[in-house]
Amino acid sequence: MGKKIVVTGGAGFIGSNLVLELLNQLSEIEVVVIDDFSSGSFKNILNAHCDIITENLYRFDWSDYFSKKEIEVVFHLASLTDTTILDERRQMQNNVEAFRSLLRFFSGTSTKIIYASSAAIYGMRSGKNRLQDDPQPANPYGFSKLQMERLATAYMKENPQTRITGLRYFNVYGPREAHKKSASSMIFQLAKQIKEGKNPRLFSYGEQKRDFVYVADVVRATLLTAIKDCPLPLFNVGSGHARSFNDIVHILNQTLKTDAKPEYFPCPYSFYQSHTEADLELTQKHLGYVSKYSLEQGIAEYFDSGWLL
Ligand SMILES: NC(=O)c1ccc[n+]([C@@H]2O[C@H](COP(=O)([O-])OP(=O)(O)OC[C@H]3O[C@@H](n4cnc5c(N)ncnc54)[C@H](O)[C@@H]3O)[C@@H](O)[C@H]2O)c1
Repeated sequence: MGKKIVVTGGAGFIGSNLVLELLNQLSEIEVVVIDDFSSGSFKNILNAHCDIITENLYRFDWSDYFSKKEIEVVFHLASLTDTTILDERRQMQNNVEAFRSLLRFFSGTSTKIIYASSAAIYGMRSGKNRLQDDPQPANPYGFSKLQMERLATAYMKENPQTRITGLRYFNVYGPREAHKKSASSMIFQLAKQIKEGKNPRLFSYGEQKRDFVYVADVVRATLLTAIKDCPLPLFNVGSGHARSFNDIVHILNQTLKTDAKPEYFPCPYSFYQSHTEADLELTQKHLGYVSKYSLEQGIAEYFDSGWLL
């Protein structure tokens, strides 16, 4: 790889794990983080020796900080990530317009752009989520991610030499997510409730299933995207398995040696996805990615890391 790598949202959950892995693997390359700390935290990047530009990407002038040719790869992870924020203008400006100004700056360059999309694009459906499925985002967050994908497609049409790949992350959990509070993974939130001696609270009756993927898998898939020549504009990144919220409580009880009983309550959201499951066939074929962590293994490693509680 070349001279500089930029990670937007590098103080956030996935971004900070990516930054630490990049610094660990590529000592000769300069890593630069751009983050406005609207949700991320310094605690995540305490040990990351790299430059941090504290700016909001929605109003960011890339040319104030960079020349066009010095950046080899941009990992664009910055985003409003609380899916329950229904302010459509906020979601669109923060997610889509920030991406547009990034694409404008890099158009015509050979910089590889890898951006975070989301399984939220699939909306409420059952069975495996395939790239060719019709998008059905059920909330402004999901729509903003879909619009980012459409923008990337339009830019690639106009600039065929520009290399842009979107990654539809599923439900990610692991170290450095505590700052996300109510938007953190259910693994983190349920573990917190159990450790506080409370009953873990689940939407009735805990059998909704999600594709929970450990952050180390997500970081690996993201790095593979940077290394490989990607013939497709999009990939799913998940574990490939749908597991229930009751499963999480069961595994946490075993891990924490507790016997906490779930307390069920009605789901207040009309747009709640009760089944996500990544079809990873193309991700495996083109990126060589296979998930290494079952939910049991991911939770065990998370617990051992000291970040779960
Ligand atoms: N965590 C998941 O389960 C998941 C699932 C699907 C997609 N994603 C996507 O992955 C990416 C990373 O998510 P995360 O879980 O690490 O969330 P996060 O909230 O921890 O990280 C996002 C980071 O972006 C920063 N940020 C937000 N808006 C910004 C702006 N306008 N300018 C500069 N910085 C800004 C925040 O301060 C934060 O540090 C996001 O794009 C998110 O939509 C995450």
